[in-house]
Amino acid sequence: MKRSILAALGLATGLALPAAAEDIKVGLLLPFSGVYASLGGEIETGFNLGLADFATDAGVTFEIVREDTEVSPPVGLAKTRKLILQDEVDVLVGIVSSGVLGAVRDFVDGAGVPLIVANAGNDEATGVACSPYITRMSFSNGQVNRPMGTWMAEQGIGKVFTLAPDYAAGRQMIEAFAETYTAAGGEIVGQEYTPFQKTQDFGPYLAQASASGADAVFVFYAGGEAIAFVKQYDSFGLNETLPLYGSGFLTSPLYVNAQGEAAEGVITALHYAPTIESDANQAFVAAYVAETGRVPSEFAVQGYDAARALVEAVQSGATDRDSLANALRQVNFDGPRGALRIDPATNNVIQPIYVYETVAGENGLTQRVIAQLPAEADPVNGCVMAPVSN
Ligand code: BEZ
Repeated sequence: MKRSILAALGLATGLALPAAAEDIKVGLLLPFSGVYASLGGEIETGFNLGLADFATDAGVTFEIVREDTEVSPPVGLAKTRKLILQDEVDVLVGIVSSGVLGAVRDFVDGAGVPLIVANAGNDEATGVACSPYITRMSFSNGQVNRPMGTWMAEQGIGKVFTLAPDYAAGRQMIEAFAETYTAAGGEIVGQEYTPFQKTQDFGPYLAQASASGADAVFVFYAGGEAIAFVKQYDSFGLNETLPLYGSGFLTSPLYVNAQGEAAEGVITALHYAPTIESDANQAFVAAYVAETGRVPSEFAVQGYDAARALVEAVQSGATDRDSLANALRQVNFDGPRGALRIDPATNNVIQPIYVYETVAGENGLTQRVIAQLPAEADPVNGCVMAPVSN
């Protein structure tokens, strides 16, 4: 597949995808170092499993070029430029941090290279900064948190204190939660944003939450920060007095066993839990356990579904980058997380949201699904979807 931006730059000629049996070059952009390193590894494992499951009859092979974005917008942009200009990849997959997605958006859009987002929830990438080349197979920050605001107010939880890291994802997740929570009658009695990738001691923030008069605390943390936060919350004795809620990244199956008993009883909402009862999920969980020896997390399923979307888009007859971008927008299947489809108005995935409690199980901690909340398309948030450029 040759690329319009490369042709424009005089770096390549031709516009077609490789003929059958040739490689499609995939640039895998993930954090393999930093606070989200384990998330990157899990997405890669899910992606490789997805290719193994779905690509066997695709008539093409997929060559992966992997780059470490760290958790750094400038590094993510430099690696994106390298994959597009030097490696001449046909498609990009990955990106974990909303900050990195914000940094690469313009270059990807200008280059006309399809990007399948396999994590970063940045609302703007499928809102005001949407692009026909960017399709999200993971979630948006608003999507996983809005339903929880309504649900918590409906449970009679009247006052909440919120905490999150101070960067795009933290702010967007908390804003989405607060919007629906207050609309349903709840009151936010305090809100703090902790320095991202720099906070090791959450004590001062926990003291504020404890003194705030809140009935509960609602947070977004992921990766290394989630492990530290949940453990410190418990050591502070707050588990006994102030119930902890959050978006499900807080108690991801990827690291919940590192949190141990401190995570028991925490209630969160997310687009995936490995305990979802469906044939598609049970088959996926069995395959993932056979491959890795552990149950899959939301990050694994995002990688797996990104691979499936890519294979289905190629199989649908995409012949160049533009038709691949268009085919990705039409993806629609029943997978481990339930029925999902791409909203053509924003290119964000539409999917159910699950509320689950982390509980002790026979083999460590597990997820007890309490509620399944309906799949809803995000508001377009200023997205005016342009046609692909060629
Ligand atoms: C984000 O930055 O969008 C993000 C990172 C980790 C988990 C969920 C969202």
